[in-house]
Amino acid sequence: MSAIIVGASSGLGRALADALAQRRHDLLLVASDPRDLEALAADLNLRHGVIVRTLAFDLSREADPGGRIAAALEGLPAPEALLLPVGTSREDDAFTLDAAAIGQLLAINLHAPLAIVHALLPRLLETRGTIVLFGSIAAVRGRGRNVVYASAKRGLVSLYESLRQRHRPDELRVQLYQLGFLATNLTHGMKLPTAPAEPAAIARVVAARLKGKSSLRYLPEKFELIAWIVRSLPWFLYRRMKG
Ligand SMILES: NC(=O)c1ccc[n+]([C@@H]2O[C@H](COP(=O)([O-])OP(=O)(O)OC[C@H]3O[C@@H](n4cnc5c(N)ncnc54)[C@H](OP(=O)(O)O)[C@@H]3O)[C@@H](O)[C@H]2O)c1
Repeated sequence: MSAIIVGASSGLGRALADALAQRRHDLLLVASDPRDLEALAADLNLRHGVIVRTLAFDLSREADPGGRIAAALEGLPAPEALLLPVGTSREDDAFTLDAAAIGQLLAINLHAPLAIVHALLPRLLETRGTIVLFGSIAAVRGRGRNVVYASAKRGLVSLYESLRQRHRPDELRVQLYQLGFLATNLTHGMKLPTAPAEPAAIARVVAARLKGKSSLRYLPEKFELIAWIVRSLPWFLYRRMKG
């Protein structure tokens, strides 16, 4: 089986690359830094004996990221899984960003996943493949922080629903993980309300479920209850919450 991981060079994407290589999946790894990707590909090939290709480009500067990935797949068998653990957030995403910064956050967190799914969908349908999207607990209810990031992550929920509405379960699997805090670059140095989960533990769950049913799940699982509480808080109480 072959899989594409977009956002593969660090954090959860890197852990997914390791978990899938362990399960003998050939991989196409995509991120912006070619040196990180090449070092990771060489390591995975050495340790697990799988074929690992890399494609480096900046998703915020590329008008057609799906076309770039589709071109890299030309002549190869159709992929069986597309995983999109790509994402970025900013501390100052609190109604202080200019239009260019807003565009960059949307490009990485929403435009890239949408465009890549559009471009690769025909090939994933050939293999009755799996698309895996990654949302965030930060998008459960709008706040004065992560304003643009959360809007983009909410957009991924709509993409998940559209894909499932359009394609029968035997044509395509679609899995959306709403993630709580993970110990990665994204949360490095942040003061978090709970201890962050290890990306390797999350990656093992995602890899094991790749051939499972379409579903929306929270990981770590305790975040399902946390999300429910946040959504259920009366507005007058929610408004007073900090952040
Ligand atoms: N960490 C958390 O607590 C947390 C919580 C909720 C949701 N999430 C979501 O989980 C997913 C994984 O996050 P993570 O914590 O593993 O993040 P991370 O460690 O920062 O990794 C992000 C990945 O995305 C790639 N990327 C970012 N900007 C890019 C660009 N402009 N062009 C190409 N590639 C780009 C990075 O590659 P380069 O460095 O090469 O650009 C890297 O491989 C994301 O969707 C994130 O929103 C994370």
